[in-house]
Amino acid sequence: STLEKTHAYGKLILFGEHFVVYKVPALVGAVAAYTDCSIEVEDNDTGIVEIVDNRPAVPNYKIKKAEEGKAAVDLVLNHFKIFGRGKKAKLTFGGNLCCASGIGASAAQVVALARAVKQTLPQFATLTEDEINAAGYEGEKGYHGTPSGIDNTAATFGGLLKFQRTDGEPIFEKKQLKEPIRIVYASTGITSSTIEVVDDVRAKKEADPAWFDALLKQYCDIVSKGEKVLEDGNMNELGKLIDENHKILQDLTVSCDELDTLVIAAREAGAIGAKMSGTGRGGLMLALTPTEEIQNAVAAALEKIAPQVWKTSFQ
Ligand code: MEV
Repeated sequence: STLEKTHAYGKLILFGEHFVVYKVPALVGAVAAYTDCSIEVEDNDTGIVEIVDNRPAVPNYKIKKAEEGKAAVDLVLNHFKIFGRGKKAKLTFGGNLCCASGIGASAAQVVALARAVKQTLPQFATLTEDEINAAGYEGEKGYHGTPSGIDNTAATFGGLLKFQRTDGEPIFEKKQLKEPIRIVYASTGITSSTIEVVDDVRAKKEADPAWFDALLKQYCDIVSKGEKVLEDGNMNELGKLIDENHKILQDLTVSCDELDTLVIAAREAGAIGAKMSGTGRGGLMLALTPTEEIQNAVAAALEKIAPQVWKTSFQ
């Protein structure tokens, strides 16, 4: 269908949430769940942009999604200098990606919108993937202030990416995997604010630079080893590094009891590594589950204690 062309994916950070803000490399995997977007345009001088949001959200999510996404949508429309005058536009968002869960649904929303602009408006038919990603980054500012750009890049390009923010354009490359990496991810059901948590980490870093630098150094060692074990397809080593990264995120104070409980339960059920993924203090965790049997066992264990659990693989 034409909507397929607007698919933008959710993401799980394998290594590097928070540290990626400070321009060190991270590894991020897109998940199969996606957001799509359609645009209907009417010649009409109201300049109204109507947003219809049919995306699923976490069970306890109270804020009206359409309201929260309005700033992000407006930034994308302003970026392309479209609508607002002489036209009426209806934007409809759908797909199976779960909002406010920590899966990068905000980035997927704005990237899906940029894809819909390309598909619907002839003057944008030649937009490149990099231009879609850049528009997505503008939209992400509406949700997250000045994010690293990792979420919109994963939403645009999919697959497993090495990503690094720089003073200029971010640099990223697709990692070729020997075989898909089977994982389970689960939600705490708690929606945390990326802006607030990133700001708090920054305040703690400024208050105690030596403490932060020590954690950053430990993290950099993990991500460079992680890249190597991914290339070798060494899942057991990858699992250990995932566990180590979780420990560092606990030390950074961005994990929480709910995340730690899910991480421990996943390991007890047979996961060979587990960590929080994304902003933390709520949101998601992921578990490395190398066989279908382990994946099912870990998902079953997590389903008893987590509001939402998904099985997927990085490709
Ligand atoms: C959020 O998905 C990832 C963070 O590192 C923030 C960012 O990269 O902008 C917490």
